Amino acid sequence: MKKAVLFSDCHFPLGKVDDKMFSSFTEHLGRCIYTGLYEPGHPTADEDGFRMDVMDLIKELNVPVIRYPGGNFVSCYDWHDGIGPKENRPKRMEYAWSSIETNEFGIDEFCRWAKKAGVEPMIAVNLGTGSIKDAGDLVEYCNHPGGTYWSDLRIKNGSKEPYNIKYWCLGNEMEGAWQAGHLSAEDYAKKALEAAKIMRWVDPSIKLVACGSSYDNLPTYLEWDRIMMKELYDQVDYLSTHNYTMRAGQSVKDYLSSYVQLDNHIKNSVKVLDYVKAVNRKKKDIKICLDEWNVWNFQDIKLDSLGDLNGLTTFEITSADKWEIAPPILQEKYSLLDALVVGGLGISLLNNCDTVEIACLAQLVNVIAPITTVKGGGVYKQTTFYPYEFISRYGRGTVLKSVMDSDTYSSVYGECNTVASSVIYDEKTGEIHIFALNTDENDDVELKLDLPQFADKKVSKHIVLCGDDLDAINTIDTPDNVTPKEITPSGSAAAVLPKLSFNVLILK
Ligand code: AHR
Repeated sequence: MKKAVLFSDCHFPLGKVDDKMFSSFTEHLGRCIYTGLYEPGHPTADEDGFRMDVMDLIKELNVPVIRYPGGNFVSCYDWHDGIGPKENRPKRMEYAWSSIETNEFGIDEFCRWAKKAGVEPMIAVNLGTGSIKDAGDLVEYCNHPGGTYWSDLRIKNGSKEPYNIKYWCLGNEMEGAWQAGHLSAEDYAKKALEAAKIMRWVDPSIKLVACGSSYDNLPTYLEWDRIMMKELYDQVDYLSTHNYTMRAGQSVKDYLSSYVQLDNHIKNSVKVLDYVKAVNRKKKDIKICLDEWNVWNFQDIKLDSLGDLNGLTTFEITSADKWEIAPPILQEKYSLLDALVVGGLGISLLNNCDTVEIACLAQLVNVIAPITTVKGGGVYKQTTFYPYEFISRYGRGTVLKSVMDSDTYSSVYGECNTVASSVIYDEKTGEIHIFALNTDENDDVELKLDLPQFADKKVSKHIVLCGDDLDAINTIDTPDNVTPKEITPSGSAAAVLPKLSFNVLILK
């Protein structure tokens, strides 16, 4: 058996993890909203048509914030279409995903759903085909108490109390040619600045997210952020970035090393922020809002390498028949291996808690998601549900700086530790929570925990996600094919991490 030592000292905290680190994202895309969150007539649907079986699973995940309504969708979306009597709402051609949008579900339904689910909405405004005035009107509709046109319309539509939405995204992936109304960095800066001004005039208490670089293979990567953040620095509170991890022909080892890629990706955005702050002599700090992250293997298309994605439009990345209502697209089926990768990404998120304040798993239901529903039928947990659940449940507290002394290996992302880990001190319970990913394909690793100030604490619970078949998936008929298990805790300051496993260690 291989050996590793994890050293951590409570005198060196990295930072407090913000609860918003465990947020998620729901878009009008495929079956995420329609037949995902919302399916009137479903046996579990409540009086609003919200699927309670889905809501119960979301509550299990304890999701604090959910971003809505997109994604690429938002850049083609007119929010006015989704308010008022449902029978009067227009059916539209939805360009982002070549679908039909019925508009049965809009901002009022989302806010009602969010209240029932106990989550806080984060709303993206359309800065592609939408106007800055539309953005201001939406803030007025949602947040103004009453006595004005849009706020009174909200009241007329059934919501007397304002929604008081705090977090607002200034567009989505505006640097990408696939985005309806995409802009250069200079033009985005101008439009976002004017939108931000109006939105803050309507409600000065809101927090704004500037739309940063998404895909690092774009020629504008980071330059976009540098140019537009120079203009927007004083007006915004967060810089967004997106990061999707793809297997795309990589070996198991390289794919598992993706936690390093996410770590680099986050740190790159932070470097640009530091640069803009220093060059422009700014005082305030801006946090990162990683408002889309996940494993996404583009299973709707055949992909041999990441390069195959270059130049594809969103029309081409799905198998959608054109202009269907809620087509079953981007319905990834996650394997055990994908779940291990998500665990590693979770570790990187936590280890960047000093700069990342908001992170949204993209997405939550049916589309690139940990929860899958059958239309008119049941719901099940994908393999990736579990690592997300664990980081949400055990990742809250203070991340301590730590040093891993383990074997290393060469990967596409450079030299990596065989064991990746994050150490969290939960002040509320006094427990230490350790996440550990063993990437070794052949050997278990005995991990010794060297925690000087917590020498009295022993591993009292050990949850592990692992298995012989890395390709194993869950389905509606075999929902428990891949599930985590509890193994006998060592009762000492050590644990054996099975080969290719994601582990949660609770020390009391
Ligand atoms: O989450 C799916 C899509 O990925 C989103 O609509 C877009 O923002 C990103 O490219």
